[in-house]
Amino acid sequence: MRVSAVLAAATLAAAVAWPAAAQDAAKIERGKQVYVEQKCKLCHSIGGEGNAKGPLDDVGSKFKADELKEWIVNPQAMTEKHKATRKPAMKAYPNLPAADLEALVAYMGSLKKK
Ligand code: HEC
Repeated sequence: MRVSAVLAAATLAAAVAWPAAAQDAAKIERGKQVYVEQKCKLCHSIGGEGNAKGPLDDVGSKFKADELKEWIVNPQAMTEKHKATRKPAMKAYPNLPAADLEALVAYMGSLKKK
């Protein structure tokens, strides 16, 4: 009786936790595609692929989600704020569909050096 109650609780916990993790993974996968579609690697690199002058490998540790979003929709303000001097400066991506923007931010946020 006690064992089955514990098992039931564990199963329930797994069932609740799983969809959230799966959703995050799907979002990050979509974000990788958006990164490719938008040709971000012309100016940035991830895992050694792309423009080595703009590595994003640890950008998820450097910025919070709302700051990452700001870099994508309002890079001019972020360039000034962080005194970034690299040229050409980053251009804004104001027309990304909201879901794609969110996915891209999730992907950027997942980029952390362990
Ligand atoms: C024309 C070149 C260019 C393109 C294209 C570009 N960026 Fe940038 N990006 C920059 C520059 C320059 C900076 C300033 C920081 C630096 O010097 O790397 C920057 C900064 C960033 C930062 C903050 C990095 C940090 O460590 O401070 C993020 C995040 C970022 N870009 C994401 C993107 C994403 C996502 C895309 C594609 C949607 C993209 N960028 C496309 C030039 C570009």
